[in-house]
Amino acid sequence: MRIAPSILAADFGHLGQEIQAVDAGGADWIHIDVMDGAFVPSISFGTPAVVAARSATELPLDVHLMIEPVEPHIEDFAAAGADAITIHVEAAANPAATLRQIRELGLRAGLTLRPGTPESLLWPHLDALDIVLVMSVEPGAGGQAFMPEMLDRIASLAERIKSQSSKVDLVVDGGINAETAPSVVQSGGNVLVAGTSVFGHPDGPAAGVRALRRALG
Ligand code: DX5
Ligand code: ZN
Repeated sequence: MRIAPSILAADFGHLGQEIQAVDAGGADWIHIDVMDGAFVPSISFGTPAVVAARSATELPLDVHLMIEPVEPHIEDFAAAGADAITIHVEAAANPAATLRQIRELGLRAGLTLRPGTPESLLWPHLDALDIVLVMSVEPGAGGQAFMPEMLDRIASLAERIKSQSSKVDLVVDGGINAETAPSVVQSGGNVLVAGTSVFGHPDGPAAGVRALRRALG
């Protein structure tokens, strides 16, 4: 099981320290949510946040692009220090071409979709993927409640990945906390993205990562 704290919920006045805290707490990846005010209503941050994260940690930087069009920005996020880039199937004119571009830049390629988008849109791309990300909230904001109806989607994708014996990471993003994490893992998710429950933990972000790890037994 891997834990990927989402810096969307971090204190940006102390971003480097917040990232170092989750690193010390045992985080595996740093998840970076980029929102453009068009594909999703809010604007979060862009490449400078990736550059800042890159200088704070050696952990893999897992960049989730909620932006449309996405194609013009891939190279910039790679140059900023991303290790993985996940794009939305709804936001890509030609997902196969963009996934190929991400891999050609030497990064891991990921694909995701909104909760209401049919899962079958991912299937043709599984061979070209390193990451499948299941959104368990509507993309656009941290702090929302986990959608339990996404557990079936996680289980079905886990099964499909297993049957193709591929090495795709099944990442689950949104509303993950000590209560919801166990069901995600039982359904077959192997990477948990968590913002609010980690960075909002009363004892600090390192304790937030440890609490999540403890909940998984
Ligand atoms: C939502 C983002 C998520 C979100 C997770 O658009 O993709 O990564 O920040 O945050 P929490 O853990 O607060 O649901
Ligand atoms: Zn995300």
